[in-house]
Amino acid sequence: MKTIKVKVFRKQDEIHRYDTYTVTCKKGQTILDLLFHIKENLDETLSFRAFCRSGICGSCALKVNGHPVLACRTQVKTILDKGPSNKLIIEPLDGFKIIKDLIVDIEGKQEVLKRFELWLEEKKPPKNKEFKVLREEAKKYGKETDCILCLTCCSVCETLKENTPFAGPFAFVRTYRFIVDSREKDEKKKERLETSINASIWSCVQCQKCVAFCPKEIAPAQDIQKIRKETIKAGYTETPGARKLSHYLNWVYATGQINRLYLPLDVYDNEKAVREFINFCKEHGVKIWEIPHLPDGFLALRDLIVRALIKDGDIENIDFKKIRKIDEKIEKLLKGDSKCE
Ligand code: FES
Repeated sequence: MKTIKVKVFRKQDEIHRYDTYTVTCKKGQTILDLLFHIKENLDETLSFRAFCRSGICGSCALKVNGHPVLACRTQVKTILDKGPSNKLIIEPLDGFKIIKDLIVDIEGKQEVLKRFELWLEEKKPPKNKEFKVLREEAKKYGKETDCILCLTCCSVCETLKENTPFAGPFAFVRTYRFIVDSREKDEKKKERLETSINASIWSCVQCQKCVAFCPKEIAPAQDIQKIRKETIKAGYTETPGARKLSHYLNWVYATGQINRLYLPLDVYDNEKAVREFINFCKEHGVKIWEIPHLPDGFLALRDLIVRALIKDGDIENIDFKKIRKIDEKIEKLLKGDSKCE
């Protein structure tokens, strides 16, 4: 039994404030128990969301001492052990409009769910048989099936702060779950890839915050990477994201680094921007490198190392066309031809 101060964010009639309650904690008490205690004994006007009380419905997500948690699954003691041992600050999730006190508006995200049509569109099963999902396949989307739509991932997402067309990590977790399901129609999978591209999947900056804070230990950022890979495999290689990836792969393979100067050209075909930048630098006497200076023999050695590292079958799949073009530029430069464009 310990007496602590609990500071709770309040929003009523457009007025924001914090109210502080003095509470005596009990053993095993969760943040949700604490909120119910305040509501039932100290302040009946306090509003928050909760339903299942068992980490299943996702409705009780909020912020405690600055970090998003599920109130029903988080013990007060665990939080106090981590920080100032007698203080709790409870606030609504970041990134959402606050309706009242700890309740945020999730309607926009419900719209995303509808737009993504996150349900299985089943192929016809083999004649006189039903689909069997083998354990190996179920493992591929076991974690994704655990998503409870608590929207914690959206509240910490760096991309959502800047980019509203980005659907939010949860949408891609669910999408991935259906993309790898062997029962789903192929045309629906293709449609899901297109929906993901239109929902700005390439703008995720891979900050990994969604992975760090997901209460169900799902890794949305990794699912986003997997869907991106599927879009490329399906031939969607002309999106700016895919072209950027191709720039990274080709330049890092060729020279060990990316080439910021050529990035706009490779991604947006914006040769004018590159030219203007080069001329600007020349006019102002600023030295720029268009192609990095590599030591003699680097290109041959690099190919040898890569061949040793990559299994034979895989190396045949690498598209060397662009890489060889970069190699040519570098070789010209090494021979002293400064006009290596
Ligand atoms: S109340 Fe349902 S997840 Fe917490």
